[in-house]
Amino acid sequence: MKKIWLGSSWKMNKTATEVAEFNQQIQNALSEVPQSLQTFLIPPFPYVQSVAESVTQHGTRVGVQNICWAEAGAFTGEISASMAKDIGASIVEIGHSERRAMFNETDHSVNKKVLASLNLGLTPLICVGDTFDEKQWDVSRESIVRQVKIALFDVSIDQIENVIIAYEPVWAIGENGIPASAIEAEEGLSAIKHALVTKYGAELANKIVLLYGGSVHPDNAQELIQQPSIDGLFVGRSAWEASGFAKLISLVKPYCESKEEQ
Ligand code: PGA
Repeated sequence: MKKIWLGSSWKMNKTATEVAEFNQQIQNALSEVPQSLQTFLIPPFPYVQSVAESVTQHGTRVGVQNICWAEAGAFTGEISASMAKDIGASIVEIGHSERRAMFNETDHSVNKKVLASLNLGLTPLICVGDTFDEKQWDVSRESIVRQVKIALFDVSIDQIENVIIAYEPVWAIGENGIPASAIEAEEGLSAIKHALVTKYGAELANKIVLLYGGSVHPDNAQELIQQPSIDGLFVGRSAWEASGFAKLISLVKPYCESKEEQ
């Protein structure tokens, strides 16, 4: 049975003091997480190690927000997949829309980073999403599927089970985002699932973890998690405080427990 996933990327937020507070405040909530709920946290690079040291004992996985596609060498300012692994990361977030829009991330560079992560046994968490314009033009599906196909170019059937894909509509993310309805979120993820079935077959495609992200909050988390193509939630603002993350854990828990009983 597939687990339910719940995690957060902190983007470029928090001081060392705030991270230490978070680490302390989240302990209770993480210690009560059932086996069928996979939690994860993706802090900025400088805090990855301290977060990993504090939460992995509870089974929570830790990730980084980016890596370089190269293994080592003259790439000033970059961090490799093996360096991310060294500091306790097991997940690599790749292709978030903020990186695509502001830091020249392309479908091609996403693919190279996905392959670099998989080669080291790290789990790429690939973010794809349609822009507001693409939604207006009714090409959301085409855009999302294109991003997924290029991200997974050359990813073998042996590697695909270790991939996570997050559908994050660009128009739904952040302060100015309009939260996607559960139906819109499901439509995006079922388009992705369809593309995965075509490429890898139904059995393998069904093993790939599919997340929804973009203005997830306590009021919509339960409706989203009940959608058939949604295996988990990838949260920003609502999970940055330990109390917010703990609240979301408590909201999705009943769905995990009912899964365990099945
Ligand atoms: P948000 O961010 O939950 O604050 O909208 C989501 C994301 O960027 O993944």
